[in-house]
Amino acid sequence: MNLLSAKNLSHTFDYELFSNISLDLEAGESIAIIGVSGSGKSTLLHILSTLLKPDKGSVALFGEDVATMSKKRVSEIKRDEIGLVFQSHYLFKGFTSFENLEVAAILSNQEVESTLLKRLNIDGTVHQKVTELSGGQQQRVSIARVLTKKPRLLFVDEPTGNLDKTTANEVMDIFFEYLQEHRAGMILVTHDEVLAHKCSKVYKLINKELVEVH
Ligand SMILES: Nc1ncnc2c1ncn2[C@@H]1O[C@H](COP(=O)(O)OP(=O)(O)OP(=O)(O)O)[C@@H](O)[C@H]1O
Ligand SMILES: [Mg+2]
Repeated sequence: MNLLSAKNLSHTFDYELFSNISLDLEAGESIAIIGVSGSGKSTLLHILSTLLKPDKGSVALFGEDVATMSKKRVSEIKRDEIGLVFQSHYLFKGFTSFENLEVAAILSNQEVESTLLKRLNIDGTVHQKVTELSGGQQQRVSIARVLTKKPRLLFVDEPTGNLDKTTANEVMDIFFEYLQEHRAGMILVTHDEVLAHKCSKVYKLINKELVEVH
């Protein structure tokens, strides 16, 4: 099943970041996007995840063109089907980790799974305020929050940037298992080429093009 199909995307801020980019993601698949800092990886992820409208081209999610979807449909998809893990975590700072997870669970009619908290090694700190946690702990809470929603599509931007190698590997294994278990898809932006090659496909954003790397 096709989860995402992007056709001929182009985008310009101060200068043209990329043009004519096309990309398809199937259920159970993961795609890594690598490329130097400033090449437009996060911008592309924002476009693919409905947060930013491309200058040119189209994005279809689950077979529906985002440009012609109603606002209500886009919100539903964002709430229920899309999981975003971005460079900044957007947790509610005045809340505890558990309260952050509860909000996600309530909004998407799911439950907070204690096994997930244990696996992310945050079960001991969930009742602390987010502001009392380390950067790496906050990152793992934001990952738990996203997976609690049980999304079919994950957009993940440098999810392990604040983590040591061992924790980073464990966290990525959780993502890959999630994809298999739920037949979900993931687009992962990373600077880590070893991690990138754990994905089904690897693309590099270079010279304004998306080139498959083997
Ligand atoms: N909202 C915006 N308005 C203007 N320029 C922007 C905006 N967002 C990004 N840019 C510019 O677009 C370029 C690409 O940014 P982007 O964040 O997509 O790069 P990136 O490949 O994700 O880099 P990094 O690896 O450092 O995260 C940068 O030059 C950035 O300054
Ligand atoms: Mg970026």
